[in-house]
Amino acid sequence: MSYLDANQKPHAVCVPFPAQGHINPMLKLAKLLHFNGFHITFVNTEYNHKRLLKSRGLDSLNGLPSFRFQTIPDGLPEPEVEGTHHLPSLCDSTRTTCLPHFRNLLSKLNNDFPSVPAVSCIVSDGVMSFTLDAAQEFGIPNVLFWTSSACGFMCYVHYNQLLQRGIVPLKDESYLRNGYLDTTIDWIAGIKEIRLKDIPSFIRTTDPEDIMITFASAECKRAEKACAIILNTFDALEHDVLEAFSSILPPVYSIGPLSFLLDDVSDKSLNAIGSNLWREEPGCLEWLDTKEANTVVYVNFGSVAVMTNDQLIEFAWGLANSNKTFVWVIRPDLVVGEKAVLPPEFVTQTKNRGLLSSWCPQEQVLAHPAITVFLTHNGWNSTLESVCAGVPMICWPFFAEQQTNCRFCCKEWGMGVEIEDVERNQIEMLVREMIEGEKGREMKMKALKWKALAKKAASSPTGSSSVHFQKMIREVLKDK
Ligand code: UDX
Repeated sequence: MSYLDANQKPHAVCVPFPAQGHINPMLKLAKLLHFNGFHITFVNTEYNHKRLLKSRGLDSLNGLPSFRFQTIPDGLPEPEVEGTHHLPSLCDSTRTTCLPHFRNLLSKLNNDFPSVPAVSCIVSDGVMSFTLDAAQEFGIPNVLFWTSSACGFMCYVHYNQLLQRGIVPLKDESYLRNGYLDTTIDWIAGIKEIRLKDIPSFIRTTDPEDIMITFASAECKRAEKACAIILNTFDALEHDVLEAFSSILPPVYSIGPLSFLLDDVSDKSLNAIGSNLWREEPGCLEWLDTKEANTVVYVNFGSVAVMTNDQLIEFAWGLANSNKTFVWVIRPDLVVGEKAVLPPEFVTQTKNRGLLSSWCPQEQVLAHPAITVFLTHNGWNSTLESVCAGVPMICWPFFAEQQTNCRFCCKEWGMGVEIEDVERNQIEMLVREMIEGEKGREMKMKALKWKALAKKAASSPTGSSSVHFQKMIREVLKDK
């Protein structure tokens, strides 16, 4: 029996991992599928559903008749301070508790809503692979969407080889400081050469039982069972890595940048569906409108990274002493265990040329002509959004595969420079160099080149990502 009734719309159930950097790209993908004729059920956790409502001041998420929201529990009590759950607990909990709830949801969708077409496929996050069991039970295809870079994902896929070669686990903590991390590796498929310090942080552990690496490596193994893998990247940017995947995993479709594919979607109600877990502070774009082109530094460390208050102060004085104009987003939970406290002198000194905000419309900010450089933690979404805007980066990777993204930005793509120490003089110097210096000019040119290639891949129907996206729908999601 075919899982797709010829008379009905295909129905994709989209399941993001419950964190901002995963929900955003999954929502884009869901919108694209909807635009391509799919009925969509988008599954948030109950906790994030509440946060999405709160951030938009709504009582219910309306969606559209053929784009609906559903929830499942994440298995955790709500955190005391609103924000992302403790990540290891969240990974463990989704892996061990979500499947029965998800299975019930699929049955409910198939049995309790006569006007909704039967579920015909699952598109879930690469680290929500419990859905593969449900897909098998319901006899429908499951595509896994790994929301990281291809290079970061490739490193995770090689974790077992790093173990077998005795490179990790690190013998003890001193190996984090004794130069060992400068060791280069030249045998990871599709990656010419990479230092140990640039592979994902979870791999560089002293504890092989650490929950983050056991989780990531188990999820990579499970990827082999998916019908296909989707990556939010494009062929020109990560060609060698993408090509190397072909002999390792099920078909991998590079369909990014999703935001450029979405340019085609003119449906206003669809575009209005948002995914911010934090309330957006108004005024940022209007403030940028008053600034000259290519003059403003944009500083944002994403949704998970945290720092000490001392580091916050170094960043503050680095920005102040550069004498440049800046927008700095300081999330309410950015500073570990305390509230961010900026020196009053910093606030007075920069009040005419610095905007502080708690959450902003990042993609629009990056695309604003006033922005000239992005000081970023190199989360994959932020990195790709910077590529799409043609904005070079000052990189301060925090964790996960952000170090790998940083390495590629700086060494492979020539559009980034890394902060070695969070120290005010270094930050001042890098900001100045990126705005006034020859290196900064070169990086801007490179960034614009990558932007053009991204557009070519995803903004034209014959671009590699557009072609892969349609192929993936045809060959996997609608395959009989
Ligand atoms: C990270 C990375 O996704 C990933 O590389 C890693 O595996 C796990 O954690 P995050 O810190 O959320 O997640 O970074 P990022 O991938 O850059 O995603 C943040 C998203 O939130 C971006 O889409 C960004 O545009 C959005 N954002 C962030 C805003 O819209 N406004 C803000 O003020 C800050």
